[in-house]
Amino acid sequence: MTTFKRNIIITGGAGFIGSHVVRLFVNKYPDYHIINLDKLTYAGNLANLKDIETCPNYTFVKADICDFENVQKLMEQYQVDGIIHLAAESHVDRSIKDPFTFARTNVMGTLTLLQAAKIFWESRPEGYEGKRFYHISTDEVYGALELTKPEGDAEGKGPYGNDFFKETTKYNPHSPYSASKASSDHFVRAFHDTYGMPTIVTNCSNNYGPYQFPEKLIPLFINNIRHRKPLPVYGKGENVRDWLYVVDHARAIDVIFHNGKIAETYNIGGFNEWKNIDIIKVVIKTVDRLLGNPEGASLDLITYVTDRMGHDLRYAIDSTKLKTELGWEPSLQFEEGIEKTVRWYLDNQEWMDNVTSGDYQKYYENMYANR
Ligand code: NAD
Ligand code: DAU
Repeated sequence: MTTFKRNIIITGGAGFIGSHVVRLFVNKYPDYHIINLDKLTYAGNLANLKDIETCPNYTFVKADICDFENVQKLMEQYQVDGIIHLAAESHVDRSIKDPFTFARTNVMGTLTLLQAAKIFWESRPEGYEGKRFYHISTDEVYGALELTKPEGDAEGKGPYGNDFFKETTKYNPHSPYSASKASSDHFVRAFHDTYGMPTIVTNCSNNYGPYQFPEKLIPLFINNIRHRKPLPVYGKGENVRDWLYVVDHARAIDVIFHNGKIAETYNIGGFNEWKNIDIIKVVIKTVDRLLGNPEGASLDLITYVTDRMGHDLRYAIDSTKLKTELGWEPSLQFEEGIEKTVRWYLDNQEWMDNVTSGDYQKYYENMYANR
């Protein structure tokens, strides 16, 4: 059996951000064993990891983070010394319809992982030495900011206010999703403060890029434009989100996992605020250009619909601490990132069609179940 320098469980590795994190770690650290622990809910798709699935330092385990005995068994089996925890229910609209699932996975699932890690690590002669529990969270735990500069800067772009979410901002979650993430963040910090577990929490802004499930704004709208379906804009489209290319989030996770200080919180974001309606127009323009449609051809698909309940007005992350202390900055300008993203979805229509038809859920049975 190969001995690896580190054995790391990445939870939720078959999802959108998790798949980028798994890919980065598997490729960059051949001497690490990366164990992707994922339940494969509707949001998990192993086709996201086709390019690395046969790598010798990668193992996929279909498991539920809420299954305490199994998580304990896996900690022992793989002699795990690091956990990067991304598994979660992640869609705000679903949390409004079904908050229980969010409490179960996001709160109880995180607590289950913490308790299993605690028992295993405390049983080792070296204790918590060299161990790390890194919890991936969201800027939504901070609540919502005001739109104090609705007209934006001199060019009509963000920032749309003078205040930003900092690591010291008080938690004030509004949706069942953000309430469940806030609760899980508190549990992680409590395990450091009570038991001395080496934990880190990061809170990131909205991600965009390849492999995002098409219930989220950008992939949903790209796909709808391709099929000439309506683009449902919630409310007046005036809500502001702060967008970061997903690979830059994965790069930040790498830097923080290795160099972040124990018990610290880091905010991750690219100072890239957009009103929904403006980003939607950029997506429309890019898709139309790449499909060879006349400019503005798909603007008529914009359809204003009833607002999301409790819709947070503005998110804006201040990631100065991460830049100053650990030297991380986004590598991509937004224009480049959105072009890459739209191109990826248009070039990977089979991936999108498999997701929208439900065929992607057969991937596990075909590839893994009989191994
Ligand atoms: P996603 O919904 O695309 O993926 C979630 C993954 O978790 C899926 O693979 C799913 O199968 C898995 N999963 C769900 N329940 C599970 C369970 N009980 N046991 C094991 N696996 C389970 O999510 P995402 O957008 O990639 O987000 C990943 C993490 O990052 C989440 O914790 C989310 O809160 C956080 N986050 C997301 C964003 C964003 O813009 N998407 C921004 C900041 C933070
Ligand atoms: O801020 C980080 C969060 O970003 C993550 O923690 C969440 O997991 C992730 O889903 C995302 O949450 P949002 O609710 O901001 O993302 P979503 O893509 O669902 O919506 C983005 C904005 O677009 C939001 O203001 C709602 C709006 N919207 C969304 C959809 C799906 C629409 O106007 N129409 C839509 O059809």
